[in-house]
Amino acid sequence: MSLPADKLSSIVDPEILAYLGVLEAEDPFLDTLEAHAAAHHFPLIGRQSGRLIELLCRIGGIRRAFEFGAGWGYSAFFFARGGAQVIGAERDPWELEHHARLFAGHPLKASIHILQGSALDVFEKTSGDFDAVLLDLHKEDYAMALDVALPRLRPGGLIVADNVLWGGRTARGSGDPSTQALIAYNQRIFRDPRLSSVIVPVGDGLAISRKHG
Ligand SMILES: C[S@@+](CC[C@H](N)C(=O)[O-])C[C@H]1O[C@@H](n2cnc3c(N)ncnc32)[C@H](O)[C@@H]1O
Repeated sequence: MSLPADKLSSIVDPEILAYLGVLEAEDPFLDTLEAHAAAHHFPLIGRQSGRLIELLCRIGGIRRAFEFGAGWGYSAFFFARGGAQVIGAERDPWELEHHARLFAGHPLKASIHILQGSALDVFEKTSGDFDAVLLDLHKEDYAMALDVALPRLRPGGLIVADNVLWGGRTARGSGDPSTQALIAYNQRIFRDPRLSSVIVPVGDGLAISRKHG
């Protein structure tokens, strides 16, 4: 079966997504989260990107992560399953209510802390360094989030940014502000000498940047 959460915002051929869905034995809790997203037309990073994040957490020993744009905790679920404690920032109080309801009683709930407010404000109120950050907020704020996150990312830490292919618009170069912001973000992560980056064409495009040690 193809997955509603991936179908909502994926550049990947639906037939390929369906094949991947057949291969994976997954936690039925994800079906619940994805059905909730489909019912509310809520964009998620998707299962493939989530699984990649989980694997990165396990490979990279990521224990503390911050999410700029947490929604109600779908992407945080994968960080938590990969062994990280996640602090997420979400500006919409409605989504925090959904997070509390959907994750009530779930064993990974204790690893996920979503705080309400502007992501940049919430980040400034935290202290200490992070092993990884996820950028999944308003696209025009990616550059600012990168600016504030980099100094507090430990050497070898990861910056993961979703939607960097933006349904193909970053490749085609359309003129709207979100696309332009993402084009600038993509150029920057390949030019910044502090970072090694790759863009993986999974979901809606996932940029993974490692801060040099
Ligand atoms: C694509 S959804 C996030 C989904 C989540 N990362 C996931 O995959 O489960 C983006 C979320 O970021 C929130 N958001 C956008 N800009 C924000 C900002 N500047 N501060 C806090 N939240 C923001 C939106 O309200 C929305 O819930």
